[in-house]
Amino acid sequence: RLAHITPHALVIGGGIAGMTAALGLSEAGVSVTLVERSSKLGGLAGMHPIDGETAAVVEQRIASVGGRPNIQTLTNVQVTNVSGPVGGYQVALSNGLIVEAGVIIVATGGQINSRFQIPDSRFKNIAFVLCDMTPEKRAACLHSCCLTTCRQAAELKRRNADSQVTVFFRELYTAGGAYNELVWEAQRQGVNFVRYPSGHSPQLVEGEIVALDELTGREVRVPCDQLITAEAIRPHDDAAQLAALLRLPIDANGFLADARVRLRPSDRIERGIYVCGAAHYPCDAQRATFEAYSAAARAAQHIRRKQAVSWASPAVVDAARCNGCGDCVKVCPFMAVTLVERQGDAATGRRGSREMPPLAVIDELICTGCGNCVSVCPVKAAQVATSYDEQIEAQVRAAMGLKRQGDPVPYLVFACEWSGYSAAEIAGASGLAYPASTRIIRLNCTGRLQPGLVLKALEEGAAGVLILGCAPGVCHYEQGNERCAAMFEQANALARLVGLDHKLKLEWVPPDDGARFVQVVDDFIGRVMG
Ligand code: FES
Repeated sequence: RLAHITPHALVIGGGIAGMTAALGLSEAGVSVTLVERSSKLGGLAGMHPIDGETAAVVEQRIASVGGRPNIQTLTNVQVTNVSGPVGGYQVALSNGLIVEAGVIIVATGGQINSRFQIPDSRFKNIAFVLCDMTPEKRAACLHSCCLTTCRQAAELKRRNADSQVTVFFRELYTAGGAYNELVWEAQRQGVNFVRYPSGHSPQLVEGEIVALDELTGREVRVPCDQLITAEAIRPHDDAAQLAALLRLPIDANGFLADARVRLRPSDRIERGIYVCGAAHYPCDAQRATFEAYSAAARAAQHIRRKQAVSWASPAVVDAARCNGCGDCVKVCPFMAVTLVERQGDAATGRRGSREMPPLAVIDELICTGCGNCVSVCPVKAAQVATSYDEQIEAQVRAAMGLKRQGDPVPYLVFACEWSGYSAAEIAGASGLAYPASTRIIRLNCTGRLQPGLVLKALEEGAAGVLILGCAPGVCHYEQGNERCAAMFEQANALARLVGLDHKLKLEWVPPDDGARFVQVVDDFIGRVMG
């Protein structure tokens, strides 16, 4: 299944990542439209450069973009709508223009709450205070404040060698590798580092920072004219809106994520939409540049192919069963299903007529095989070729039979491969234990389930049925998890009639949280066992 690819690129975001991506595409001979929501290029790094080097990079990129005839730059412009098929996106802009693009690079950057710039080097005594890295903060750490602090501290010393610059820290997370050099460089410049014990955050008292030095166990007092508390880059306010327009997943921190095509390259058509820079994850200019060139290379390669191919197993409709109800049309998240008038049946010689119900037809190029249509089809006319109901039922029977005499009755887990299943794999890889009576059936999306399949598991003797899906807003097939929630209500209501509803549970699990998977499974089994 092939899609023609328009040889033009749209880059959304005019920060370092966006400009670099546009330049990369331009060098590859691809014409680019670069749109920036604000009045000038530069992005966050342009507004608040953390050091002179970054400011110079921004200036150089702006000049380079301006000198490229095949880059059209539009400022004060935002994306308002995205339509069209893979490879031929019609992108509506707030200035009324429609850009037709075969690839889209999203480089909308991140956001900070307050002013964030090189501290004033006229101050003599400057103190940075990094956060007290509690376990909760460690889980949410984006590894950006420590690096920024080291850069700024070193820059201050370079600008004013007489200044006294002190960094109070609990942990220094530098992302390893070459980034460690930033810490050494700050030390070489003469920046003092003081590690304080957890729970003893430094205090500003009458013009001095008072802290406990964990290394010596002594109290230190450092004069302070300017105090800087580190601030993390967070997702831009419009990230969720853009994600919805482009049908991109959002990670647990609210950043845009690439559709993880690389995990299953043949299951989805290459959509030609790439995310880079701080839109993806907090990053510095170096990292943004690297990601942007990588995105540009992938985008240029995609355009050079001229066609996109999908090997996904699309849903199919049994024309003889289809009653033309249109439920599949309503639930398809990719708008891949349409109802058409029947043309007659060549095999039987029966001619189409207005009395015959319309037929659901699936666009195989767009269909991702999510199974949402399967879950609502009242006559079982729609099926996903690799995931027939009968195949899932066979897996349920096999899972129930996988026990030796005397083993406890198995608990069945229907796990979305993008969340619950991935979390289970991480639990396994991390050596986390969960009850051996757990049997996991992998689904491409929980939206594929129907009440009949869930109840079938109970009928086959499962001690309980747990469904693990992606959290609201991050289902890889748009609203598959919402459909699952509705389905679960129906299944639960039916189970309640026979007093078995305590054996069913639906939970959302992050894909990278093996511990959460184990906790959910343990809690569920504990609940069923009473
Ligand atoms: Fe995970 Fe839909 S992809 S619930």
